[in-house]
Amino acid sequence: MAAVGGVSAVNVGAFLGAGGWFTPDTLTTSRFVDRFEQVFGKHDGFRRNHAKGVSAAGVFTSNGAGTALSRAALFQRGTTPVTARFSISGGMPTVADANSTVRGLAVLFHLPDGAQWRTAMVNVPVFTDRVPQGFYERLLATQPVPGTGKPDPAKVAAFLAKYPETARAMAVISKSPPSSGLYNSPFHGLNAFRFTNSAGDTVPVRWTMMPEEPSQPMGAGAAPGKDYLFDALVAKVMQGPVHWRFLITVGEPGDPTNDATTAWPANRRQVEVGTLTIDSLQTEAPGNARDVNFDPTVLPDGIALSDDPLLAARSAVYAQSYQRRTREPHRPSEVQVGQQPSGPRITKVDHEQ
Ligand code: HEM
Repeated sequence: MAAVGGVSAVNVGAFLGAGGWFTPDTLTTSRFVDRFEQVFGKHDGFRRNHAKGVSAAGVFTSNGAGTALSRAALFQRGTTPVTARFSISGGMPTVADANSTVRGLAVLFHLPDGAQWRTAMVNVPVFTDRVPQGFYERLLATQPVPGTGKPDPAKVAAFLAKYPETARAMAVISKSPPSSGLYNSPFHGLNAFRFTNSAGDTVPVRWTMMPEEPSQPMGAGAAPGKDYLFDALVAKVMQGPVHWRFLITVGEPGDPTNDATTAWPANRRQVEVGTLTIDSLQTEAPGNARDVNFDPTVLPDGIALSDDPLLAARSAVYAQSYQRRTREPHRPSEVQVGQQPSGPRITKVDHEQ
């Protein structure tokens, strides 16, 4: 598994641009990762974003319908093993779960002949930022300030005036309340990609993992524990496999492929290509998803990048985060998946002391 770690197929550092290193105000990969550390603190051995998480494994079972869109081998009828990771956003590895925190599902499909497809998805229907610079500035503009524990309203207002697409995206996100758990969350790829089938036809696509479990709203008045989202996921997977329907949305001419803050029209064709099954969870440890870099530009033949400017930035920044965290000492993950002689249970390690 170590071999699948920091390798970035394309584009490491590419979003910097040729003159980037000589201009003090230009965003570089290192400055981006430094910004995560500035805002969330430096937590050795953990991801600089989506730091809190749990490793998972399972299979993708293809129904064959995806071959009409892409010649990638996993769309042939049959099963493909996956390594996955559930997470919540932010760079603090022991932060308390909260409904409003963005949730992540990253999946690495192990195709035949060592080929891979890595995708990292989130539960919100559009992304907050259109360009890397917006994400970089938003991190600081929305940082809670001492005293109130909330972002400075003046800084937020100035940020939203400069990046109106983020204000529009937040309005869309607010209309899509989170489900009660990680196990019944949809997860969206958001960035556009291009699929090419065996006849050589190429179409723009986006994708979503849609939970088979009905999405219930969070119960009112509940007093959730610190890790309630992960606890419920662990309990669910211990009862049996959890499934998501894999839906590919096909774009039409004029649909933006370079703007993850904008949804495509709701009537676009969707092709259900199979089912993602998660049947086990593992505490983050050497050899599992802890040491995978879910770089979304690692793609098999039949899937290619779009012109979305976030993709090259993601590739470069994830690689830098990976390089830093894998060279640092590791501490136990907040989310522990354990077995007791009396039967399955969830164990916890208290890091706050
Ligand atoms: C410029 C844009 C973005 C930046 C700079 C960024 C930054 C990061 C970083 C630093 C990590 C930790 C990587 C590691 O150490 O392995 C990460 C993880 C993650 N990001 Fe992003 N991100 C961006 C956009 C996105 C988008 C558009 C999505 C969803 C569509 C997304 C979903 C995730 C998920 C799910 C993870 C956790 C993956 C895992 O479990 O390893 N990110 N991001």
